[in-house]
Amino acid sequence: MPDPVRVAVLGAGGRGAQTYGRWFLENPGRSRVVAVAEPLDHRRDTFADRAGVLPENRYASWRGLMADSAGLGLDAVVVALPDEDHVEPTVAAAERGLAVLLEKPIAPDRASLLDLEERLSGLKPRIAVAHVLREAPFWRSVRQAVSSGTIGDPVTIRIEENIGFWHFAHSYVRGNWRRTDTSSPMVLAKTCHDLDIIRWLAERAPERVSSMGSLVHFHSGNAPEGAPTHCAKGCPAADTCPFHAPRYYAEALADVDGWPVALLGPDVSPQGRMAALEDGPYGRCVYRSDNDVADHQQTVFSFPGGLTASLTTSAFTGANTRTFQITGSRGELSGRMESGELRLESFAPGPHDLSRLGEDMRVSANGPLGHPVHEWNAVPSSSEAADHRGHAGGDDALTERFVDAVASGDFEGHVATTLEASLDSHWMALAAEHSRLTDRTLAWGELRT
Ligand SMILES: NC(=O)c1ccc[n+]([C@@H]2O[C@H](COP(=O)([O-])OP(=O)(O)OC[C@H]3O[C@@H](n4cnc5c(N)ncnc54)[C@H](O)[C@@H]3O)[C@@H](O)[C@H]2O)c1
Repeated sequence: MPDPVRVAVLGAGGRGAQTYGRWFLENPGRSRVVAVAEPLDHRRDTFADRAGVLPENRYASWRGLMADSAGLGLDAVVVALPDEDHVEPTVAAAERGLAVLLEKPIAPDRASLLDLEERLSGLKPRIAVAHVLREAPFWRSVRQAVSSGTIGDPVTIRIEENIGFWHFAHSYVRGNWRRTDTSSPMVLAKTCHDLDIIRWLAERAPERVSSMGSLVHFHSGNAPEGAPTHCAKGCPAADTCPFHAPRYYAEALADVDGWPVALLGPDVSPQGRMAALEDGPYGRCVYRSDNDVADHQQTVFSFPGGLTASLTTSAFTGANTRTFQITGSRGELSGRMESGELRLESFAPGPHDLSRLGEDMRVSANGPLGHPVHEWNAVPSSSEAADHRGHAGGDDALTERFVDAVASGDFEGHVATTLEASLDSHWMALAAEHSRLTDRTLAWGELRT
């Protein structure tokens, strides 16, 4: 049994402490958190206490930690900092020969992405980008079905990123990802995952990108008459507004004290929640915030060889899930990530031995021309598998993959989401945003020159 991988967590927030940190703590034989950097005392100490991090290895900033990295005996760092703080610590870690689990976005804009690429060239960095969907059993099944030729040559890929009306209000109107200048455009912050999946399934970069969308709803023009700055300050539309904050954080999520409630502050008691909503960011009226990212966007790609793909993203969905359809010359594959359901219509007559794709594979019906229809489930249907909690198993699987990659010494052999494999998704997102803002179709590579 190799020694546990020695990890430093940079940013002990939702991702650093509660996603990756939780996995490290649950797997002490394989990983050990030896240092933490986090400016918020309660976050730093709560996590460091649970991980048993020595007082002298607790830092208020990643810079201090990185300056001491030689003495900490680190193997790896997790960069789970705000979007605009990904490039510098990643370069610093790569220069020290440390493996990096890097949260997406790799970098929030064109200039910093180019900067990162240039500064890492020649360093042979070991970076696993947290494109966790590639590790989710659901998308692994999809990829296996497509790459094994089950639907013939893919012709169209269609993904819908259904953000969920509350999730969007939480993260993209009231939360950290509401403004492009302090984080990144929604098409990058939210949907670089989906673009990464499109790129992964297409097995090549696109050649043209076109995108449309806007911030159509969450602005002052739609504020109910008399609405105060914060819902809890006596909003006259409290009973009819879909986004009334106390209904969500204090009532619907009364039994939840992790994400998203934990972001309100350290006191998640009923009184603590209401106090945080009174004047904190998550209590803001969704029509009186300072958000500017699009609340819906549709992007189309064409690929060499004729394949086309589309991504539809909307805040205005009930469920928080992804749905997709891939059509091919010999079949059609579709599914729903939240439930794990997958459905394959094979156009050619059977029999088809598809048992490798799923244990509970069943031929459920005959298609209109008597062709077989297969249905199976890639992930257990449970609330734990829901998209916004653990990315349908992808969060834990990617963390485990990263730790194994560092421990084994064969990084590239273990990690599917290396920096090289992940960069195109970001260029696709930046091209989509540029297209949306300039109202024109972009050629691939146009933004890189
Ligand atoms: N892979 C995914 O699906 C996924 C999901 C959610 C968020 N993210 C990304 O993960 C990153 C972190 O998101 P989060 O939800 O954990 O946010 P968060 O705000 O909960 O956590 C970030 C933490 O970094 C800390 N921090 C700020 N400056 C610091 C510094 N100089 N040194 C050390 N710590 C510092 C903050 O105090 C905060 O606690 C973001 O880039 C986000 O876009 C990725």
